Amino acid sequence: MSNKQYTIVEMFNQIAPTYDRANRVLSFGVDTVWRKKACNKSFALLGEKKVNLIVDVACGTGDMMEYWRRQAKAKGIEVGRIVGIDPSEGMVNVGRQKFPHFDFEIAYATQLPLADASADIVSISYGIRNVLARQEAFGEFNRVLKMGGLVVILEFTRQARPSIMGRVTSFYLNRVLPKIGGFISRNKAAYEYLPNSIEGFVTTETMRDELIAAGFEPLYIRSFSMNISTLFIVKKVR
Ligand SMILES: C[S@@+](CC[C@H](N)C(=O)[O-])C[C@H]1O[C@@H](n2cnc3c(N)ncnc32)[C@H](O)[C@@H]1O
Repeated sequence: MSNKQYTIVEMFNQIAPTYDRANRVLSFGVDTVWRKKACNKSFALLGEKKVNLIVDVACGTGDMMEYWRRQAKAKGIEVGRIVGIDPSEGMVNVGRQKFPHFDFEIAYATQLPLADASADIVSISYGIRNVLARQEAFGEFNRVLKMGGLVVILEFTRQARPSIMGRVTSFYLNRVLPKIGGFISRNKAAYEYLPNSIEGFVTTETMRDELIAAGFEPLYIRSFSMNISTLFIVKKVR
């Protein structure tokens, strides 16, 4: 693993105890809408009443896993197992305390401790930006998914043509968020990393092309809330 990748994971270890609190304040709770939408749309596209395995990569403190459980229950979908995988022990330890009934594993997105063709859904929420070997990770998602299985990504992608509202969100991300996040976590650098990593990240179109190259067919790609968050749902076709 590269030094840069270690540094990113170490940063998450440091902010882990305050991550959930900061997240609630900084997102104004809007992320709950995006998470529910991701789960509901994925279940509708998968069209199965019984799902054996959902894997949440870069699971952090486990919130997305809980959304999978709740939305499945609401839709009468039976889920065999939900596994969360993340290389940050700090984040996973918080997750284990919050959700003792879930399985967590410490691992990178590029080395998932799962058998070939074992998963129905692989999700990654606000995590793919931190995975430096992204193409390798997409290959790994493909390996562990069954044919027809889904990759579900939520991410703050960069828009190819920024709008006026884009300037407003950019001001919030660059000026406001590091101050509030820095205050709550006592780690300003970590919350300066967030806008920098978004601005240095690929556009929605580029990520779509990368997913196609990794053997997936796009089923649903849409940006929400003034294009802040983008949902990608793609299907394994080869
Ligand atoms: C912003 S948090 C998102 C956590 C959670 N998915 C959520 O929605 O709240 C990003 C997570 O990515 C993890 N991460 C960083 N590098 C990673 C990698 N190479 N592979 C997998 N996860 C990684 C971090 O440890 C951190 O928990």
